[in-house]
Amino acid sequence: MKIAVTVKETREQVDEWRRQGLSVGLVPTMGYLHEGHKSLITRAVSENDRVVVSVFVNPMQFGPSEDLESYPRDMDRDAALCEEAGAALIFHPEPSEMYHNGFSSYVDMDTLTGGLCGKSRPVHFRGVCTVVAKLFNIVVPDRAYFGQKDAQQLAVIRHMADDLSYGIEIKGCPIVREADGLARSSRNTYLGKEERQAALVLNKALSEGKKLIESGERDAVKIKDTVTGIINSEPMARIDYVEAVNWDSLEPVTDINGPVLVAVAVFIGKTRLIDNFIALED
Ligand code: PAJ
Repeated sequence: MKIAVTVKETREQVDEWRRQGLSVGLVPTMGYLHEGHKSLITRAVSENDRVVVSVFVNPMQFGPSEDLESYPRDMDRDAALCEEAGAALIFHPEPSEMYHNGFSSYVDMDTLTGGLCGKSRPVHFRGVCTVVAKLFNIVVPDRAYFGQKDAQQLAVIRHMADDLSYGIEIKGCPIVREADGLARSSRNTYLGKEERQAALVLNKALSEGKKLIESGERDAVKIKDTVTGIINSEPMARIDYVEAVNWDSLEPVTDINGPVLVAVAVFIGKTRLIDNFIALED
């Protein structure tokens, strides 16, 4: 497995694979990799001849008061995980390689980004779309892999790939959880012992919401009230949002009559965690 730090090296390697007629999968990440990321890489390895993992903590998607500086980093461990999972190349650029002096072009979206995480993180999706568009242009993969953990991001990237005619298949992958149900996240490392315990309330609340839908409840307000009530029973939790939206348009729903995304963002202490489930998907 190679590690490339420049766009040029990455393009040269991918060009060589292309000449050999090999297919290429891309897994974009911000590093500090865990089993969730690994599941994406493993899936990509099983569906492509060569897999590129990008490891880049993208400054553009962090707001001014967010955790860009403290975001965890461990390149040695990341490289070992990628190698073990069967990746062929890591693209690990410096911010200056991705954003040259005078950088001033962006990819933005008028729909899908106003609600859910986009509401409390106004610059976030412009940063995500811009960096993912650049990664798509640098690697030009056949397929790219994204986790349902960041469900809004998955929907936004699908929409962007379609709008901008990338011709790249966007593959959504299920949420990987710890044994006790906590969704795996690089940010879990911020949680103290008590906070880690309190964080279990997200999955607990969502599981109850999911059960209600599975048993026939179709009133989105009832689902949201149940999820909200359980989260609020945890004194360390502070809700950012609890939403039920159409799993395509991301528009809020009142009556659930098709694929629905029920998503939450919750502060446990200073750490903002997200989790979700999708129901009634065909
Ligand atoms: P990051 O948070 O590192 O996540 C990289 C990919 O791993 C995303 O597609 C995310 O949904 C997926 N992922 C994270 N935790 C997961 C879990 N528990 N189960 C399944 N998949 C999981 O998302 C980003 O980075 C960035 O926004 C990025 C797309 C790389 C653009 O900078």
